[in-house]
Amino acid sequence: MTDSRQRLYINIDHIATIRQARRGHEPMPVDSVGVCERAGADGITAHLREDRRHMQDADIDAIAAAVTTVFNLEIAATDEMIALALRLRPHQVSIVPERREEVTTEGGLDVSANPARLMESIRRMNDAGIRTSLFIDADRDSIARSRDVGALAVELHTGRYAHAPADPATLDALVTGSTYARSLGLAVHAGHGLTTANVGPVAAIPEIEELNIGHHVVSRAVFVGLDQAIRELRAAMDAARGQP
Ligand code: PXP
Repeated sequence: MTDSRQRLYINIDHIATIRQARRGHEPMPVDSVGVCERAGADGITAHLREDRRHMQDADIDAIAAAVTTVFNLEIAATDEMIALALRLRPHQVSIVPERREEVTTEGGLDVSANPARLMESIRRMNDAGIRTSLFIDADRDSIARSRDVGALAVELHTGRYAHAPADPATLDALVTGSTYARSLGLAVHAGHGLTTANVGPVAAIPEIEELNIGHHVVSRAVFVGLDQAIRELRAAMDAARGQP
């Protein structure tokens, strides 16, 4: 049993994906914020991609204004996006890698690519009171480099585990990475590809204090509604952590 309640942040990008299928006005992602929060979300996550394939700039402004819990803004570390973060001052910024051709964020950030630039971006956000998290693969090098560039948290990419949950190596990497990150003083988050069915073993890792989950919630909401989809996920997390 772990005594700290793990935070659940709901990623609402794919509500925008549905709207963008028609380039119309429904559903509006901002309208889901209150539903998510009332269902037990501890925070709301949204990713403004450079190609604006789902969230648009106006969505991000509206969500930032509507959130009453915690707004976690996901962005690539570009000048445009850092300027947006400094203007909006969300509670948290998660820096993600971005390639236009990918369907989703398929791997973690390459923290070694331009560390001086990353460090400067993180410093500016930390100075502005924004908590900074880097979305990385759960390897020692990426974790140590994240600490070195000044991030306060790392979000471990759970995609490999989600694709092969029966392979013990995929979960082991998350367990080992979480322990190592924590030993360096980093807060540990995780996400990508998590569902009610596979979240248990990840939720049970004591060092992981926050999960970011999106696609499954919006998919499940088609059948049972957003409120119930979030409550089911919360229940699966709590059960895994031995909490009532
Ligand atoms: N965390 C980060 C950094 C992400 O970019 C995403 C979305 O790709 C998620 C978590 C949530 O992933 P999913 O939508 O598969 O739950």
